[in-house]
Amino acid sequence: MKIKELFAGQAEDGKSVEVCGWVRTLRVSKNFGFIELNDGSYFKNLQVVIEAEKLENFAEISKQNVGAALRVSGVLALTPEAKQPFEVKADRVEIEGVSAPEYPLQKKRHSFEYLRTIPHLRARTNTFSAVFRVRSLVAFAIHKFFNERGFVYVHTPLITGSDCEGAGEMFQVTTLDQDNLPRDEQGKVDYSKDFFGRRTSLTVSGQLEGEDFAMAFGDIYTFGPTFRAENSNTTRHAAEFWMIEPEIAFADLNDDMRLAEDMLKYIIRYVLENAPEEMQFFNSFVDKGLLERLDNVVNNEFGHVTYTEAIELLEKSGKNFEYPVSWGMDLQTEHERYLTEEVFKKPIFVTDYPKEIKAFYMRLNDDGKTVAAMDCLVPGIGEIIGGSQREERLDVLCERMKEMGLAEDDYSHYLDLRRYGGTKHAGYGLGFERAIMYLTGMSNIRDVLPYPRTVNSLY
Ligand code: 4AD
Ligand code: MG
Repeated sequence: MKIKELFAGQAEDGKSVEVCGWVRTLRVSKNFGFIELNDGSYFKNLQVVIEAEKLENFAEISKQNVGAALRVSGVLALTPEAKQPFEVKADRVEIEGVSAPEYPLQKKRHSFEYLRTIPHLRARTNTFSAVFRVRSLVAFAIHKFFNERGFVYVHTPLITGSDCEGAGEMFQVTTLDQDNLPRDEQGKVDYSKDFFGRRTSLTVSGQLEGEDFAMAFGDIYTFGPTFRAENSNTTRHAAEFWMIEPEIAFADLNDDMRLAEDMLKYIIRYVLENAPEEMQFFNSFVDKGLLERLDNVVNNEFGHVTYTEAIELLEKSGKNFEYPVSWGMDLQTEHERYLTEEVFKKPIFVTDYPKEIKAFYMRLNDDGKTVAAMDCLVPGIGEIIGGSQREERLDVLCERMKEMGLAEDDYSHYLDLRRYGGTKHAGYGLGFERAIMYLTGMSNIRDVLPYPRTVNSLY
């Protein structure tokens, strides 16, 4: 039985239970002792009472350290006058696994920095068990949201031959011996000798394949790992992260933004309803304004502003930004945070960015200078979603690719879509970890990834 079920109302006086978990604390006197047991299903520990009279291995149990794994059978006793509402009087305690005395998670508060050095153990602490329970729940909520709307879930490949974002931030995949690379006559590495007979990388986005499937199913989404060799050592960049990428056919940028807003509100409501204790915990110990802020988000419309208007707001702000503001520049985190935290004070969509700072596939606007892009920015983080209406006009797309130096051969499947029943379509990518940061108030992406991979660091 899970401890959470007991706290959820299944604790009856005199009921026999069997619970498995790990020792959080152990206090013993000569013939009598208390164990606080945690099984990861809930914050609260189950109090186990051990008595020498009832347990032949009492002496052995008494010697256990924090972290030991136990299987406990016993009888529940309601204790309404005590701190905990009930306890288990053990009549059998099996020691499934002892724990060495140097166990790193003793009963005290550890810093997140320290806990990052022990990713294999930190999920056993209250904060991280809450983070990873919420992470699991949000993944489920996302699938539920798209499933309820009839979207088809597509598994896009992780090994690819094209750079979706065109930013050159790809991790190469190769079986070539790096100390003895085959070379052609000009001395260039000969990738025809590589595993796939060509140069390949880990995907930076499943979008291009997602578009293929949207042209077959109408509405699809992907949800999978994504890799970026971005040399950004920040609290919101990881080299390996998860992304959710819906793609909708017969749809424009407004449909895209509506879907993104509905999805974010849906997952917020879902975690508030289904993980109320965890959310209360984050609100008390991680981010004091969290619940009030999320409540405001679900009950208000997101803001909308064009890139050009955003630049005007930033110029008028009188702020001394580290990166000076001018039309044509990419918005930096400090600009994004000013707009959401000081101007709008809620999530906003910034639309119609200059084409020079956006990817080749975004639909060119009539002004010839901007593209039908949208970024969703939220207070505390900045960008959590990047999306756009896609360029469906073959001639305009080929022209754009030429401008950006992309070889048509590498994107032939993508161009085919514009030849065979190409239609207006749009999509976006939600950074899963950034969404979890937003929902929990955790301020470092390393603390919402089970095993963070960031530049210069792989524990
Ligand atoms: O804005 P991005 O680069 O957009 C795309 O990849 C598009 N292909 C999406 C699409 O239209 N289908 O990335 C989308 C989101 C960002 O808004 C951010 O939340 C997250 O992915 N992201 C990262 N998260 C963590 N670490 C990184 N290095 C990230 N790079 C992007
Ligand atoms: Mg982006």
